[in-house]
Amino acid sequence: MSQDCFAAIILAAGSGARMKSALPKVMHRIAGRPMIAYPLDALRPLSPAATLVVIGPQMDDIARIVAPVESVVQDPPLGTGDAVRAALTQLDGRLAPRGEIEEVIVLYGDTPFLATKTLSRLLAERRCTGAAVLVSGMRPADPGPYGRFVLAPDGTLERIVEAADATAAEQAIGLVNGGIMTIDARHLRELIEEIDRNNAKREFYLTDIVGIARRKGLVCRTVELPVEELIGINTRAELAEAEALMQQRLRRAAMDSGVTLIAPETVFLSADTRLGRDTVIEPNVTFGPGVMIAEGARICSFSYLEGATVGAGARVGPFARLRPGAVLERDVHVGNFVEIKAARLGVGAKANHLSYLGDSEIGAGTNVGAGTITCNYDGFNKFRTTIGEGVFIGSNSILVAPVTVGDGAYVAAGSVITHEVPADALSVARARQIDKPGRATELRARLRRKI
Ligand code: UD1
Ligand code: MG
Repeated sequence: MSQDCFAAIILAAGSGARMKSALPKVMHRIAGRPMIAYPLDALRPLSPAATLVVIGPQMDDIARIVAPVESVVQDPPLGTGDAVRAALTQLDGRLAPRGEIEEVIVLYGDTPFLATKTLSRLLAERRCTGAAVLVSGMRPADPGPYGRFVLAPDGTLERIVEAADATAAEQAIGLVNGGIMTIDARHLRELIEEIDRNNAKREFYLTDIVGIARRKGLVCRTVELPVEELIGINTRAELAEAEALMQQRLRRAAMDSGVTLIAPETVFLSADTRLGRDTVIEPNVTFGPGVMIAEGARICSFSYLEGATVGAGARVGPFARLRPGAVLERDVHVGNFVEIKAARLGVGAKANHLSYLGDSEIGAGTNVGAGTITCNYDGFNKFRTTIGEGVFIGSNSILVAPVTVGDGAYVAAGSVITHEVPADALSVARARQIDKPGRATELRARLRRKI
């Protein structure tokens, strides 16, 4: 993709007051990923010469998430124009005409649906038209809080009026600011320096650079884009709408790649969920981040998976929970009310009912009976359980880790296993059964006399 050398600035320093949250807005998740990850993903294939994320004070979490992309702290956040000014301190000497960066693209961290090809289209369009500033526009059903575009008679962009400052006539304008701007690097600094705070919010609005550029005789333009790509998230309700839209896309992509979703609208995916061909997902399944499923598996209803790897032909659920580090090899069966954490089950192993298997290694072909628990935690430390191949663990067994059960061993039902079971041994670790013939009749008679 041929393009001029450009820098990208992503604004993420706003507190997101309308979210009413202790968490910075762009850290709220959509399909399991913080919102800020989406614009970064869209930019990456275009290889910007520099990418800067503007964050507010005490937003180290964002800096950590976006690393190795560089963050710049805007302290205090005084508006989107002030945020770009903060970012420019990192581009000193690099902007044209002296430096190599010809153009700067500014994105907002709260617009997660941007596509890479749209960004490259906006860069190309500004260059072709020679506009000093090119701004993405859209026509949402309700223009609500978005900045309104005031166009000149020749169709170029004259200024942007923020909703809070707009007259009734301006409020009625349907074409609004979608939030992405590409700016000629030669003019950027002087445009930003002229922004003032004479507005309803007492903020430095980035959008004011359009009017400033016009006054300098520079041309500004707009490109209209589909609303779905430019949706900005400012409230919890908008977050939920964005989640719904993202889920629709992910479900569609999964089905297009050969996965059966019996009731797609009840399956929740993460942006990074990988589902193999011919896998069937039954209704009401949730995938947290980090799940990979190979071909031809079946995930039955009401299962919850995160950080788990599931092999080909495996069967999970209904009502199973796979936690981070769960690895099920080919043809493993994990049934109802089974929880697996940091444990590997070898080819064809089965744990079909009511078990907790944590910090464990379970060999191929082993059968784990109903109600088996690995006791991996003593309140302070975690310990491992290692079970060999072809083992039979009887129902309601307790395996007190650290402990090893050798290949081919049998553990009798109801056992509490506290030390190694050798290969091919039968271990019975429970009180022996005592039978007292006739004593039930005597007991009953005695109890009846007491009434
Ligand atoms: C902004 C635009 C509006 C546009 C809308 C599109 C301005 C003044 N308004 O409004 O025209 O229609 O986006 O979604 O730009 N931020 C900072 N530092 C600050 C303030 C904000 O980095 O001091 C960041 C926020 O974290 C956010 C982004 O800039 O990611 C946009 O801020 P937000 O408050 O959401 O602006 P809107 O009111 O949505
Ligand atoms: Mg916004």
